[in-house]
Amino acid sequence: MANRKIGIVVGSIRKKAYTGMVADYLMQQTPSGYDFERIFIADLPIYNQDYDKEGLPGSYKPFREKIKALDAVIFITPEHNRSIPAALKNALDVGSRPYGQNVWDGKPAMIISSSISGLSGFGANHHLRQVLTFLNMPTLQQPEVYLANIQECFDENGVLINESYGQFIQSALHAYLTFANKLIG
Ligand SMILES: Cc1cc2nc3c(=O)[nH]c(=O)nc-3n(C[C@H](O)[C@H](O)[C@H](O)COP(=O)(O)O)c2cc1C
Repeated sequence: MANRKIGIVVGSIRKKAYTGMVADYLMQQTPSGYDFERIFIADLPIYNQDYDKEGLPGSYKPFREKIKALDAVIFITPEHNRSIPAALKNALDVGSRPYGQNVWDGKPAMIISSSISGLSGFGANHHLRQVLTFLNMPTLQQPEVYLANIQECFDENGVLINESYGQFIQSALHAYLTFANKLIG
C-alpha cells in the first residue's frame, strides 16, 4: 500500500517561528507507512474572488494541487489577537475556492496551538476548529494539544528539549493517525 501523505501547515510565516520548530519535531517523528510534508503558505497573495475568474496568482494552483493530493492535514498555529494568523486564514480561504472545489474537503485534521504565555493559543485553536468545521475537515477532538510557554521548550538550534512535551506530542500524533486512518479508509 502507498504511504499515507500527511501535510503539515504552520500558521506562522516568520523565520524562527516556534510553531515551525514544532513542525520540525513532528517531521522527525514520521512513522513508517507515512510521508509527512511541510506545506508553506507565505507566498500566497491575499485571496480575492476575482482571481478565480480573471487569472490566478502563480502560487495558487500548485498550492491547491498539493493540498488535494494529501490524505490528512496537521495544523500548528500560534495565536494572533485571539485568533489564527491572517496568513493561515488566507491559506484556508485559497484552498476553499472556487465554490464547490474545496481542496480541504474531507481530510482529517489535527490542531496544535502554542503561545509564549500560559494561554497556549486556546483562542486560535478554537477559531481554527470553527473554520475546519465549515471546510468539512473532521478534526481530532482528544487529546486537545495546547503548548504553553513554547519559547522555553527549544534550545538555540530549535531542538525540542522539553521531554514531557515531546512525549505528549508523540502520543497525540499516535491518536491522530489512528483517527485519520479510520476516515481515510
Ligand atoms: C500580531 C500578533 C498578535 C499576537 N497576539 C497574541 C495573542 O492573541 N495571544 C498570544 O498568546 N500571543 C499573541 N502573540 C504573540 C505570539 O504568540 C508569539 O509572537 C509567538 O511566538 C508567535 O508564534 P511563532 O513563534 O510560531 O511565530 C501575538 C503576536 C503577534 C505578532
